[in-house]
Amino acid sequence: MEDFQKRILVTGGAGFIGSHVVRLLVNEYPHYLIVNFDRLTYAGNLENLRDVDQKDNYRFVKGDIVNAADVQAAFESYDITDVIHLAAESHVDRSIEGPMDFVMTNVVGTVNLLQHAKEKWNGEEGHIFHHVSTDEVYGSLGEEGLFREDTPYDPRSPYSASKASSDHFVSAYHHTYGLLVKMSNCSNNYGSHHFPEKLIPLMIHNILNNKPLPVYGKGENVRDWLWVEDHAKAIVAIFHKGRIGESYNVGGLNEWTNIELVRFLCQLMDRKLGRSVGESEKLISYVTDRKGHDLRYAIDATKLQNELGWTPSITFEEGLEKTVDWYLANNEWVDKVTSGTYQTYYTNMYENR
Ligand code: NAD
Ligand code: TYD
Repeated sequence: MEDFQKRILVTGGAGFIGSHVVRLLVNEYPHYLIVNFDRLTYAGNLENLRDVDQKDNYRFVKGDIVNAADVQAAFESYDITDVIHLAAESHVDRSIEGPMDFVMTNVVGTVNLLQHAKEKWNGEEGHIFHHVSTDEVYGSLGEEGLFREDTPYDPRSPYSASKASSDHFVSAYHHTYGLLVKMSNCSNNYGSHHFPEKLIPLMIHNILNNKPLPVYGKGENVRDWLWVEDHAKAIVAIFHKGRIGESYNVGGLNEWTNIELVRFLCQLMDRKLGRSVGESEKLISYVTDRKGHDLRYAIDATKLQNELGWTPSITFEEGLEKTVDWYLANNEWVDKVTSGTYQTYYTNMYENR
């Protein structure tokens, strides 16, 4: 194990973004050992990593970040040198239905990890704790303006409140104990391996299966979409070259209202499926709005661009087409990850909405 230059614990590596971060690190950094630490909740699936799980520099540990013994065992077994922390409960609608899981994993779990990292590294130089967070901690924008790193925190959903709390703890461990932390706050991601409860994969799945497309409220809420592989590259760049104790906003200046986005997807899918123009749009169904629905998120990523030279590698149109192609070619992945208890959840959340 000492042959590996770094031994990085990636938490939540079986989830959507985590699996892209693990894939990138395993493929491009053979001199690092990548230890994927994941509880495998409904959102975590080892199917996501089939293409890299046989590589020499990859290990998987099933564990819960809330559980001190699980975290301690992983730190000791692999002599962990760095952490990239993505494990979280991540879906806003679920946080509205039941906030406590979000408090446990996102807040208590993060503090548990911070505490073990602090004890393990004991002030030694060179060990990084990179915390992956969201732009939702900044609250909701009106028609104008962008979130910057110095925008005051104003979380408004139980999900964003739990992420804001975890961000504050990461910052506190830096200021109080000198832990070498880095943070990134990213806008909405899309791409392959995205669990089909979030807007884009849910819409692709429902269009394909001729099911209603549930648009909340009037569909006028705005999100700023970034291709997940560009987020993964940003995380790896910040982990290596970002300044200690700093946070970096990640986003692609790519704002869409939900209804514009759903219509665009319908047109793309009509073309891919050989349907007549306008056929999929007939599935759009306006449903009861989300409680406390944030109006607009939009990121100013100038700091990341200026300091680290990061920019998105592809346009939204290219990324969305790649994403749709992936879902069309991997229908059985959707069946696998949505088997189990998901169908009951989906019926309660969406079909009865
Ligand atoms: P996801 O829900 O797809 O994956 C989360 C992963 O964490 C799953 O593999 C799950 O099994 C694991 N996990 C959950 N609870 C755990 C626990 N107690 N112990 C160990 N593992 C646990 O989430 P995602 O969309 O990939 O998001 C990853 C991170 O990025 C999160 O921290 C999220 O807040 C942040 N983020 C997400 C987005 C987005 O658009 N999805 C944008 C910005 C930031
Ligand atoms: P989501 O993918 O849940 O991400 P977040 O809430 O973290 O931004 O939702 C993106 C947007 O799409 C958000 O404004 C809520 C809306 N939405 C719908 O209109 N219908 C849906 O079925 C879902 C899941 C989301």
